[in-house]
Amino acid sequence: MQMEINSDLEAKCDAIIAQYPKKKSAAMMVMHLIQEQFGYFDDDAIKYVAGKLGVQPIEIYGMLSFYPMYSSEPRGRVHIKVCRTLSCAMAGSIKLGHEISKIINCPIGETRGIYTLEFVECLGNCAKAPNVQVNDKLFDGVPPEDAEKFVEKLKELDASGGLAPAPTWEKPAGGGDFNSPAYKG
Ligand code: FES
Repeated sequence: MQMEINSDLEAKCDAIIAQYPKKKSAAMMVMHLIQEQFGYFDDDAIKYVAGKLGVQPIEIYGMLSFYPMYSSEPRGRVHIKVCRTLSCAMAGSIKLGHEISKIINCPIGETRGIYTLEFVECLGNCAKAPNVQVNDKLFDGVPPEDAEKFVEKLKELDASGGLAPAPTWEKPAGGGDFNSPAYKG
């Protein structure tokens, strides 16, 4: 395994699993932990999680493909997800995504330097469209004409550590955890 599972990580996985009546139910939280630690899943990581949870690797692979917060490829430190579903699209998110792409010099769906940029489906905050999720933070009401300002804000947050992921393994109950909105025009 390229991704070394050290004893600390193993202990965190075990602590998460111990909080669920069935090992399998801990799948999302264990996957969050692996995603956060390594930034993506390779085949060995999939097999490791499957082994810990007593399920077939195909089940973990299925979750990996379905949920946008998990990735099978390395991502940039700043992972920008622009919602392209109806409410956000009508509020200009498609243009916003392309503007951001030009500013950070990263094609949509790809990784360049510290950035990964992609369009995703509904982020569950339609009333405040257009929405952009960056790492685990949600930014709402970001108009396309503010793309430049938005990217500057991201740079500042990245430099100050403000985009670092929150440690999810300490919150196994899950729930809404977005720090919205850090962006205020
Ligand atoms: S349509 Fe964008 S958050 Fe729902």
